[in-house]
Amino acid sequence: MTGPAAFFPPPRVGPVIVRGEGASLWDRTGRRFVDLGASHGVGNLGASHPEVVRAIQRQAAELLYLGTGYDVPVRTQFLDRLVGLMPPSLDRVFLSNSGTEAVEAAIKFARSATGRPKVVAAMRGFHGRTFGALSATWRREFREPFEPLVPGFEHVPFNDVAALTDAVDDRTALVLLEPVQGEGGVHVATPEFLAAARARTTAVGALLGFDEVQTGVGRTGRMFAFERWGVVPDLVVLAKSLAGGFPIGATVTTEDVRRRFRGSHHSTFGGNPIACAAGAAALDVTVRERLWERAERLGEYARERLGHLPTEKVREVRGLGLLIGLELRGRVAPYLAALEERGFLALPAGSTVLRLLPPLVIAEDDLRAGLEAIEEVVDRG
Ligand SMILES: Cc1ncc(COP(=O)(O)O)c(C=O)c1O
Repeated sequence: MTGPAAFFPPPRVGPVIVRGEGASLWDRTGRRFVDLGASHGVGNLGASHPEVVRAIQRQAAELLYLGTGYDVPVRTQFLDRLVGLMPPSLDRVFLSNSGTEAVEAAIKFARSATGRPKVVAAMRGFHGRTFGALSATWRREFREPFEPLVPGFEHVPFNDVAALTDAVDDRTALVLLEPVQGEGGVHVATPEFLAAARARTTAVGALLGFDEVQTGVGRTGRMFAFERWGVVPDLVVLAKSLAGGFPIGATVTTEDVRRRFRGSHHSTFGGNPIACAAGAAALDVTVRERLWERAERLGEYARERLGHLPTEKVREVRGLGLLIGLELRGRVAPYLAALEERGFLALPAGSTVLRLLPPLVIAEDDLRAGLEAIEEVVDRG
């Protein structure tokens, strides 16, 4: 065998990260990097937050696994914490292990509860890689090699109220939207679009689902992004940083949806005690430190500063809180490589958008240094 055994993604040349703390990551030579997106939105609390680590260690020593047919106090504790942060109507939770699984559950719940086939999602949207979630995902390169996908999915232009209103009818089970499209280039929903999605789904008896896998848990300057618009959905999908870096997925819905649901759905590891312990600890830290406020403040500062970059190099700066996209006039790959050389690990969102998803706990000095590095590489690019 040549190279690492990973099937996908293919091996790349880059730092081999062996340790992390907050937004600092160290490679095996001892070099420090700053995480501006290396943790893919999982590390809102930074790497290996001590409270999350302690909760995992304690729970692992006590009870590593028990099936969901039995009550485990730590699961109840986590669910109570999560539901306590949601609007009162969203009080039923299905736990799984990843974002894509949480989306699958939302699609199944909506189809089953409404008895309808159709799912309306947005162009440029991203919802995951398993077949249902992939069918809701927009990008052709992600979809085409695996077709045929699940029938019944339609895509409308993001933020196009008329197209959405037209597409949603009495055969629609679910409208599934990201309040801020992350993978699709960091596009923020307009208040009118989300309000129209709520009004139209209610009018035709469809369900409205928000995919907050990337935007949830403080990232966009609110605990959940939808709070900003005051639009309460019927389903919220969470994952990524919900358990402070431990794998988890959550599909939060209403008692009405639960009551109307026919059939069954289950995940062996969904709601396992370790994930719940990590989740309860992560939510405690997020709430106690009001990390969404930090995301809002630092995000405003970063966007304001990036807004001064020359327009011949940068088309637009977008985002909310610490989910920031810098749309470049050229390809993003060389900029990411130049940032990595300088010790900053950021992310692409498509071929021309540089995406910043730093831990919400990032030190202000590290963020400032990261912005300076971006200014420098954009200037030279
Ligand atoms: C909005 C959104 N939904 C779903 C997913 C899929 O999550 P996972 O990779 O945990 O399956 C992602 C992952 O990036 C995402 O950003």
